[in-house]
Amino acid sequence: MQQPTDRGMNHAIPSEITPRAVYAGRRDWMKRLAAGALGSGLAGWAARDALAAESLAKGAALAGAKSAVAGALTLDKPTPRTDATSYNNFYEFGTDKADPARNAHTLKTRPWTVTIEGEVRKPRVYGIDDLLKLAPMEERIYRLRCVEGWSMVIPWVGFSLAELIKQVEPTGNAKYVEFHTLADPKTMPFVGSRVLDWPYVEGLRIDEAMHPLSLLAFGMYGEVLPNQNGAPVRLVMPWKYGFKSAKSLVKIRFVEQQPKTAWVKAAAQEYGFYSNVNPRVDHPRWSQATERRIGEDGVFAKKRPTLMYNGYEAQVASLYTGLDLAKNF
Ligand code: MTE
Repeated sequence: MQQPTDRGMNHAIPSEITPRAVYAGRRDWMKRLAAGALGSGLAGWAARDALAAESLAKGAALAGAKSAVAGALTLDKPTPRTDATSYNNFYEFGTDKADPARNAHTLKTRPWTVTIEGEVRKPRVYGIDDLLKLAPMEERIYRLRCVEGWSMVIPWVGFSLAELIKQVEPTGNAKYVEFHTLADPKTMPFVGSRVLDWPYVEGLRIDEAMHPLSLLAFGMYGEVLPNQNGAPVRLVMPWKYGFKSAKSLVKIRFVEQQPKTAWVKAAAQEYGFYSNVNPRVDHPRWSQATERRIGEDGVFAKKRPTLMYNGYEAQVASLYTGLDLAKNF
């Protein structure tokens, strides 16, 4: 990955987020989403307190999940939607930050299936509409920290990946989960390029995948995911560098061995399997101690300190007890 550039950014003044007046209920949102009928501006988000309360109430069927999710809801101001949808990394559509928004209109998100296979008792191919209905949608505002040194705050819509995992019943051999994303040279102009070994594959340990913060996202800013942000379904791993959050998922495979992920294959000395956000372990070519919040101060952005596990230390640190984080970066 390249170091950050300010190309495409033009925000000298932090934009104000105006809470939208009308807030469509989650069920209503889900129905519209399932029907493909959700237009722009239909659903906004309520006041933070209401959001936190709702996430708490609807948030999680899993034991312990409610408090983990509630404790993780950030009060940071969300990044303006225009920035989050125009400054992207989606190398299948080009390596420039503006390329995905320019090129991803060719991505065809219906029909769409996600195949669940490998070490599970109930392998299955989900049509996207069935996947959408698998669990109640929640809105979760998470920080996203890219390994390149920039960050955003994004209100995602989705449900815990654990909701899907428990449906398919992993066997005792399922130690890791592998995520495959679409690699279609007809609709993705850069899939022919040699920048990565396609398809873009990512992976998690099974306990990381089961963590209540691990999100399967279908929307952002109260609307369906724009193509450039990984439509129709992507992973969001808030305590890991952004490249772990694989976009446009087509296959989830449960495996015994640690997956060979696209970025590890491309440059193992630079991008590790874990890729937990860690200000104390630098990238070989740049410091990870600070970050630039996109949309905050434009090209003159002052850097803010990067937080351990991107600020989710209380929720996730116990996953890594005893692990040497400098070696397992
Ligand atoms: N997923 C795929 N399939 N292809 C990619 O190039 N880029 C990753 C990740 N997921 C990428 C991907 C990187 S480097 C980041 S920082 C995030 O997506 C960016 O997500 P965003 O554009 O929605 O902010």
